Amino acid sequence: MTASGDSDLFTSLLDSANRLSFDPRNSLVYETGSDEDRFHGMTPEWSPLYGTPTWNRMTESERVRLTRTEVAQFLGVGIWLELGLQVALLRRNHSADPARPDVRFLLNECADENLHSLMFVNAIDSIGSNFHRRGRLQILLGWLFRSFAWDEVAHGIILAGEEIFDVMQRDWMATDSVAAPIRRTAYIHVVEESRHMVFARSKIRDRLTRVSRVRRYISTMVIALGTHIIAKSLINRDVYTGLGLDWEIVRIEIDGNEHHRMMFRTAAANFIEFLNREGLLNRGARWIYRQSNLL
Ligand SMILES: [Fe+2]
Ligand SMILES: [Fe+2]
Repeated sequence: MTASGDSDLFTSLLDSANRLSFDPRNSLVYETGSDEDRFHGMTPEWSPLYGTPTWNRMTESERVRLTRTEVAQFLGVGIWLELGLQVALLRRNHSADPARPDVRFLLNECADENLHSLMFVNAIDSIGSNFHRRGRLQILLGWLFRSFAWDEVAHGIILAGEEIFDVMQRDWMATDSVAAPIRRTAYIHVVEESRHMVFARSKIRDRLTRVSRVRRYISTMVIALGTHIIAKSLINRDVYTGLGLDWEIVRIEIDGNEHHRMMFRTAAANFIEFLNREGLLNRGARWIYRQSNLL
């Protein structure tokens, strides 16, 4: 191990990226069939409203409209994370030796993330959906993250987003009732993010060997808060009011939806297991993850 981490691992990740990466600027990724209107934006079971009285009252075409709007919200949060992580990590590596294996991999990761964000914008466009504005609190928290997040916290919050999207998108890419552009982009994202997750886990592990108990405690809590914000941002009232739904009813139904909680817990399971293994899950953090429905 070097001061920057496991060099051999970073070199092999870069080799893997050279062998298998995609160019989502290819318009074939977003091609849709003639009967595209009947396809969902994401696997219906991932809708926070799935199985609630509101969901059960909806016609199939209303559900399609709902999941298409929700996937725009989910991927909008994905883009927010992809842009934020680049600012946070590039800022920290601005003066680092660019030939270092971890910096080389980071440059490749940023190239991936830029194309992912562009890919999500194109995919949402191709299914006729659109993004919603971020709330003022989210904008402030995004600024805090990209300006101040330190090593293990930056990588920890990034990993939370990557792990949660990995589980959801594995479902989306394999569900026949999901629109083709979303299935294709989910596949590309799952393949390329698998390397990012190995990178983040390695960076966190390496950094934690050299931190004090107090710093570990603070980092544990900040990662939990960051992850909480990601989970909460996935549900945006504007998505539901924009579809003519009563937010007060929707909010209560989502809060009480055991199916939704189970899906979120499933999405976070690998991440929580990693935190537990690395000593990043104390009593306070567990409480926060329970508030986010991730534990
Ligand atoms: Fe990405
Ligand atoms: Fe990533």
